[in-house]
Amino acid sequence: MTRKYHITTFGCQMNKADSERMAGILDAMNFEFADDPNQADLIVYNTCTIRDNAEQKVYSYLGRQAKRKREHPDLVLVVAGCVAQQEGEALLRRVPELDLVMGPQHANRLDDLLAQVLDGNQVVATEPIHIMEDITKPRRDSQVSAWVNVIYGCNERCTYCVVPGVRGTEQSRTPEAIRAELEELGRQGYKEVTLLGQNIDAYGRDLPGTTPEGRHQHTFTDLLSYIHDVEGIDRLRFATSHPRYFTERLIRTCRKLPKVCEHFHIPFQSGDNDVLKAMARGYTAEKYCRIIDTIRDCMPDAAISADAIVGFPGETEAQFENTLKLVDEIGFDQLNTAAYSPRPGTPAALWDNQVSEEEKSDRLQRLNRLVETKAAERSQRYLGRTEEVLVEAQNPKDPTQVMGRTRGNRLTFFAGDIESLKGQTVAVKITETRAFSLTGERV
Ligand code: SAH
Ligand code: SF4
Ligand code: F3S
Repeated sequence: MTRKYHITTFGCQMNKADSERMAGILDAMNFEFADDPNQADLIVYNTCTIRDNAEQKVYSYLGRQAKRKREHPDLVLVVAGCVAQQEGEALLRRVPELDLVMGPQHANRLDDLLAQVLDGNQVVATEPIHIMEDITKPRRDSQVSAWVNVIYGCNERCTYCVVPGVRGTEQSRTPEAIRAELEELGRQGYKEVTLLGQNIDAYGRDLPGTTPEGRHQHTFTDLLSYIHDVEGIDRLRFATSHPRYFTERLIRTCRKLPKVCEHFHIPFQSGDNDVLKAMARGYTAEKYCRIIDTIRDCMPDAAISADAIVGFPGETEAQFENTLKLVDEIGFDQLNTAAYSPRPGTPAALWDNQVSEEEKSDRLQRLNRLVETKAAERSQRYLGRTEEVLVEAQNPKDPTQVMGRTRGNRLTFFAGDIESLKGQTVAVKITETRAFSLTGERV
């Protein structure tokens, strides 16, 4: 009987990309994918620890499967990702039923690690390693749009953030390896690629070589130009940009390269300079606004999205209002918002000026209301326009409709048959707008 595996993924796109790699490895080991964890002989929880609630969710899932394991001792339980990296051995003490605890840098070693488990060992793999290029083919969720890591890890030290601790120091893949992966994706029929890095502007600074002008030879901007002509790939996206390193050269290059979509994801975190300083972000609100102005001068229709945190330690009402002000002025197409969550091993968690939970949730609600109003305003510019929509899937709520994204990353629904339209870029006239999605008809 074929053994079945299940993977549940929490957290960001990097984790999703890692899960697709791990699924590819399990496929190659002749495991069969199971949607339902209760049917699986091997379960991987690929975990996130960015905020406390993300971490707690994992423990409740794990508790259920640990219980099932007491009746099915052959069940293999794996915790991968950022909670695994953060907790390491401590996870085994908390959930002794676990077979394997593996940090994100070990994702593409799953087969080796499982071999040790099947030999009867309980394995913890959290030591920092050089991430090897993959030989396995990822099993991707979408057949249209794929994620491709360009740089792993993060060398920043934002005072609230666990990522550098759990993802380790920056490791850029070579331009050749990235291009080869895109070429393979193009051959397989993928149309869109999103290039990933926690701080994608740092791409290349750990690779050898500088130009005669003293610039790193491999900047992210150079990478975009280098991979732009890959056959079959019609759209390129990337995330996440850091305001401290974001360059005008990148904006100009994006404008020049037709496959690069007009969408920038540049988290600002706070609209207040003292809070930004306490966060150690390394830029001011004014600098952030200048970046957005430059983008809009150069590409007036570009979509802008970002992340923001409310209730960072010491944040006063007036400082929070500076965040509201920035959101009001810029008018984001989308903003991911979060209440500050103190994380183990980060400096800000130890400060004694924490903001109360009530205050944080009140600020979060106020910010979210503004975000929605502004996003609805931004959506309206699409009304009556004809947009290029890359069709990804059926509308899960209405089987007569398909859904895809505009170049500016707005989710768009229109009547159509998924069998014939999947992976096609279709001209759609927008007839209805909502804050975060659009409806239209094929022209
Ligand atoms: N590398 C990206 C962010 C990665 S984490 C960047 O520099 O912008 C994704 C988002 O989670 C962050 O942008 C931040 O808004 C949020 N986040 C990170 N740590 C957090 C914490 N301790 N509490 C609340 N939100 C947090
Ligand atoms: Fe975290 Fe800052 Fe690195 Fe982003 S840049 S992953 S927020 S430390
Ligand atoms: Fe979460 Fe790790 Fe991503 S902590 S947000 S899964 S880098």
